[in-house]
Amino acid sequence: MLPSFLSSLIPLLALPAVNGLTSDNNIGKLPALGWNSWNAFNCNITEEHFLSAAQKIVDLGLKDAGYEYVNIDDCYSEKERREDHNIYADYNKFPKGIGHTADAIHALGLKFGIYSSAGNYTCAGYPASLGNEERDAATFASWGVDYLKYDNCNVPENWHDECEFCVPDSDNHRPPGSFFPNGTCSNSTGSQCPDDYDWSKSKTAERYRRMRDALQKQNRTIFYSLCEWGEANVHTWGNETGASWRSTGDIMANWPRVLEILNENAKFLDYTDFWGHSDPDMLEVGNGDLTYLEGRSHFALWAAMKSPLLIGTDLTTLSDANVAVLKNKYLLAFNQDDVFGAPAKPFNWDGKFDKDHPPENFAGKFKQGTLVVSLNNSPERAVKTIMWDDVPALSGKKGYKVKEVWSDQDWGCHTGGIAVSVDTHDSVVLVVGSECYASKRDTYGIKSYVV
Ligand SMILES: *[C@@H]1O[C@H](CO)[C@@H](O)[C@H](O)[C@H]1NC(C)=O
Ligand SMILES: *[C@@H]1O[C@H](CO)[C@@H](O)[C@H](O)[C@H]1NC(C)=O
Ligand SMILES: *[C@@H]1O[C@H](CO)[C@@H](O)[C@H](O)[C@H]1NC(C)=O
Ligand SMILES: *[C@@H]1O[C@H](CO)[C@@H](O)[C@H](O)[C@H]1NC(C)=O
Ligand SMILES: *[C@@H]1O[C@H](CO)[C@@H](O)[C@H](O)[C@H]1NC(C)=O
Ligand SMILES: *[C@@H]1O[C@H](CO)[C@@H](O)[C@H](O)[C@H]1NC(C)=O
Repeated sequence: MLPSFLSSLIPLLALPAVNGLTSDNNIGKLPALGWNSWNAFNCNITEEHFLSAAQKIVDLGLKDAGYEYVNIDDCYSEKERREDHNIYADYNKFPKGIGHTADAIHALGLKFGIYSSAGNYTCAGYPASLGNEERDAATFASWGVDYLKYDNCNVPENWHDECEFCVPDSDNHRPPGSFFPNGTCSNSTGSQCPDDYDWSKSKTAERYRRMRDALQKQNRTIFYSLCEWGEANVHTWGNETGASWRSTGDIMANWPRVLEILNENAKFLDYTDFWGHSDPDMLEVGNGDLTYLEGRSHFALWAAMKSPLLIGTDLTTLSDANVAVLKNKYLLAFNQDDVFGAPAKPFNWDGKFDKDHPPENFAGKFKQGTLVVSLNNSPERAVKTIMWDDVPALSGKKGYKVKEVWSDQDWGCHTGGIAVSVDTHDSVVLVVGSECYASKRDTYGIKSYVV
């Protein structure tokens, strides 16, 4: 018989060490920066789209700013595997094969990504990799793939989880038409797994581990991006499985959807650090109904949450102003900081699930100081007051040098806090830097922040 204090320790000691997936060459340590075809072109892709995007990434200075991946999304292959069971490029879209596209992108000093799904078919109905993980991982490696986005469509019945997980997202169609106004799902049919269910043992987790293991067997480091829409409590096993994991359903190029995703992803920021990033989906800057100010708020919030930053727009028509947003050196420096791995986190937030009123204020540390993002989500211009005492790591008794990020202007020394007039749906973004001395509190000298 063990002494009771020891036996009570054993279950703790027996817990598996939860180590995140790492690589020797730091790939996957920081959020991915790049471009993906889906938000701009959906299925309407040809090799030319990727060669043009890659060239634009170089010409617009996005490569110098850190963007490196050029990623093909769904719809690049023939509709069925061939007799040798392999996936083949659709030669109408990629006349010289995917390997040729990859070579051309590599020749520009960029990296190349591809797409598949942990099901029988992709979301658009092309062959996917469940049951063919090693075969497809080897194909991808032979093409020169550096990044895999792995979707969650067309999962056959025998791979369904034994019970359901609640993703309170308007894009969650299970059961059809469901909507979750307060962040809970109805369990009236008893289909939801108990709260203490271990999702790392679910079939969903297993489907994603299979591809992880297949990628690990390749003689190539392939960034592994899980796209399973926040299901199966992925934030609890994503870190040991891949480099990033989607936390919600798909983004769309409109402001209400950006807010809804922001609200959902904000719950998972304690699970993001080096080597593992909660992913609120690719960028819509430059697309659809988003205004310039909404687009830059979206970018600032995604960068602050240490989201992967995958540009999703047609770079041949993107405005200079939006290019400048995507190249913002402070936001990219925060997102890619190699000393501080944690994202900016909400402050002055009640934590309530409300898709129309996500947290508006975020702060986090990086090498240059503290990054503060404050969104004005009201329908009119408003004064956003940021008190240093409300920001973790800052003190209300101290003065700090403040830099405004969009204009790259020094705003001088501020004690106590700062108040800024911000347009509707815009965000003020500050780098609160070194301590300084200001003779009196200047919180009430409102900075008029005009675009
Ligand atoms: C993810 O795993 C990495 C590598 O083991 C670890 O450094 C990091 O802290 C983990 N992330 C979280 C949020 O625990
Ligand atoms: C793709 O092509 C289809 C058919 O021509 C068209 O309806 C759709 O709008 C296109 N989508 C995009 C994003 O260009
Ligand atoms: C999925 O593929 C497997 C073999 O890889 C096959 O046994 C199964 O019938 C397929 N299911 C569906 C629904 O297509
Ligand atoms: C949340 O919504 C569910 C379903 O509509 C409802 O049963 C539950 O009472 C609500 N909870 C709160 C705290 O409002
Ligand atoms: C849903 O109902 C089932 C059956 O009553 C129960 O076992 C499960 O714990 C419930 N799940 C949640 C999240 O309440
Ligand atoms: C693995 O890749 C490296 C670099 O590309 C190459 O030098 C090496 O020969 C490869 N090893 C195998 C076993 O293919």
